Amino acid sequence: MNQEVWSKVDRYLAERLIPADPVLDAALAESDAAGLPSIQVSPAQGKFLHLLARIHGAKRILEIGTLGGYSTIWLGRALPPNGKLLTLEVDSKHAAVAQANIDRAGLADKVEIILGSASESLATLIEQDEAPFDLVFIDADKPSTPGYFQKALQLTGPGAVIIVDNVARRIAAVEAESGDPGVEGIREFLEIAAKEPRVTGVGMQTTGAKGYDGFAMFLVTS
Ligand code: SAH
Ligand code: DHB
Ligand code: MG
Repeated sequence: MNQEVWSKVDRYLAERLIPADPVLDAALAESDAAGLPSIQVSPAQGKFLHLLARIHGAKRILEIGTLGGYSTIWLGRALPPNGKLLTLEVDSKHAAVAQANIDRAGLADKVEIILGSASESLATLIEQDEAPFDLVFIDADKPSTPGYFQKALQLTGPGAVIIVDNVARRIAAVEAESGDPGVEGIREFLEIAAKEPRVTGVGMQTTGAKGYDGFAMFLVTS
C-alpha cells in the first residue's frame, strides 16, 4: 500500500458518498490563494467529524486550530439552529480567510473565531464559565496538545466527546524519543489520556489523501 493507492481509494469513496460542495471547494480555493498550508482534514475526515457531531446531537462545539475554516464548516453544519461553535486561532491571516469562508457558508451566526493563542483563549473560556461543550476538536500546534486536552477536560462534562487529530502522523509517534516536538507532544498527550480516569478513548489510524495518520476519540465519563 502506498500514498497513490490511499489517495485513489479516498477519491473513490468521496465521489460516491460526499456530494460536490461549492462552498467547501471555495473554502479550499481561497485558503490556497491566500497561501495557507494545505493541512486541513480530508473530505472524508471532515464528513466523519460532521456525522459524529450530528450523531452526538452536539449543540456547543469547541475547535482548537481553525486554519481556513474547512473543518469548522463541516462541524458548524452539524449544529442545530440554536447551536454554537467557538474556534480558536492564533494567526490573524488564517482567521481572516476562515471568517470569509464561514460567512460564505452561511454560518456567521453560529460560528465565532477567537483570535489569540489557544492556551490563553482556553484559560479565558474556563474563567468565564463558558463550559460545558458537547464536543471538542483539538487540531492546533502539536506540542501544546497535552495542555489543550487538559483544558478541554475543564470545559466539558460527562457525555462530552473530545477528538484529537494527527495522533499517528508519521509512524515515529510509536518510536521512542523521536526528537520532533510535535510527535513528543502527541506522545505526552497519549500518556496523560491513558492515566486520566475521567475519559475512555480510542486511537483510530487513518489513511487517505492526507497520508498516514489517525484520530483519537474520547468519551468523558465523569
Ligand atoms: N482544523 C483545521 C486545521 C488546523 S491547522 C482544518 O482541519 O481545517 C492548525 C491551525 O492551528 C493553524 O491555523 C495554526 O495557525 C493554528 N495554531 C497554531 N498554533 C496555535 C496556537 N498556539 N493557538 C491557536 N492556534 C494555533
Ligand atoms: C499537518 C497535518 C495536520 O493535520 C496538522 O494539524 C498539522 C500539520 C501536516 O501534514 O504537516
Ligand atoms: Mg490536523
